[in-house]
Amino acid sequence: MSGFAGKVALVTGAASGIGEACARALAAAGAQVVLTDLMLDGALRVARDIGASAEAFAADVSAEDQCDAMVAFAVERFGRLDIAVNNAGVGNKDRSHVADLATASWRHVLGVNLDGVFFSMRAEIRAMIASGGDKSDGRSIVNIASVMGSVAVECGSAYVTAKHGVVGLTKAAALDHAADGIRVNAVGPGYVDTAMFADRTPEQRAEVGARHPLGRIARPDEIAAMVTFLASPAASFATGGYYPVDGGYLAR
Ligand SMILES: NC(=O)c1ccc[n+]([C@@H]2O[C@H](COP(=O)([O-])OP(=O)(O)OC[C@H]3O[C@@H](n4cnc5c(N)ncnc54)[C@H](O)[C@@H]3O)[C@@H](O)[C@H]2O)c1
Repeated sequence: MSGFAGKVALVTGAASGIGEACARALAAAGAQVVLTDLMLDGALRVARDIGASAEAFAADVSAEDQCDAMVAFAVERFGRLDIAVNNAGVGNKDRSHVADLATASWRHVLGVNLDGVFFSMRAEIRAMIASGGDKSDGRSIVNIASVMGSVAVECGSAYVTAKHGVVGLTKAAALDHAADGIRVNAVGPGYVDTAMFADRTPEQRAEVGARHPLGRIARPDEIAAMVTFLASPAASFATGGYYPVDGGYLAR
C-alpha cells in the first residue's frame, strides 16, 4: 500500500489486537504512527518494536480531556495529523438481557465504545482542520464498529447499541466534514482472534467460527488491511461508508 509517506496517523487501543495490527500496517506502509491506549506498557512495547516512526501515549478514550491530550501529543511530536483509527473498545462482559442489565454496565460500554469514538474524532477533526494545507491532502478517519453495528446478538444490548451508534456517527461526521476534505468511514469486523475473544472455550470458538460462512473467525491483520485501504489515497472517493470484513456473517 502506498501514499503514506509524510503522513501522521493516530490509532487508539493500539496495545493489542486489531489496533496493534492497524498501527503496524500503517507504519509498514510508511506513516508515522502514534499508538494510544489505556495500557501504556502495551502501547510502548508495540511502538518500540515498530521503531523510530512510532510513539506511544496513555489515554482513556472515555475521558474527553485525555482524547484532547492524545491528539495534542501527536501534533506536538510529528507536526500534524492526517489519519486516525478509532479502535479502542471493550467487549460485552455483562451478558444480561435488557430487563436485567445494570446501569453501570450500560454506561461503561457506551462510555468507551461510543463516547470514546466521539471524543477522539472531535479532537482529531479539529487538529486536521487546524493543520491547514491542501484539503485534497488525504485526511481520513476510520472507526472500528462491528457486525453488531448492523445486526444484534442476544445478551449484547449495550455493545450492539454502541456499535450501531458508531456507524451513525461515522455517517454524520462524513457529511459534516466532507467540505474539509476529511473522509470518515467505519469498518465492521466479524469475530476476530484477539484478547476480546480469549475467554472462549475451544467449543465456543468453533461454534462462533461456524457462524461465518468462511468457517472461522478473522485474524487482526485481515481487519487492518481494510483499514489501511480506507486510510489510503486509493480510497479517495470513499466516505460515509460502513465496510463489513466479516467472512460473510452479514450475508446470511
Ligand atoms: N475481537 C472481536 O471479535 C471484534 C469484533 C468486532 C469489533 N471489534 C472491535 O475492535 C476493537 C478492538 O478490539 P480487539 O478485539 O482488538 O480487542 P483488544 O482487547 O485486543 O484491544 C482493545 C484495546 O483497547 C484498549 N482499551 C480498552 N478500553 C480503553 C479505553 N477506555 N481507552 C483506551 N484504550 C482502551 C485495550 O487496552 C486494548 O489494548 C474494539 O472496538 C472492538 O469492539 C472486535
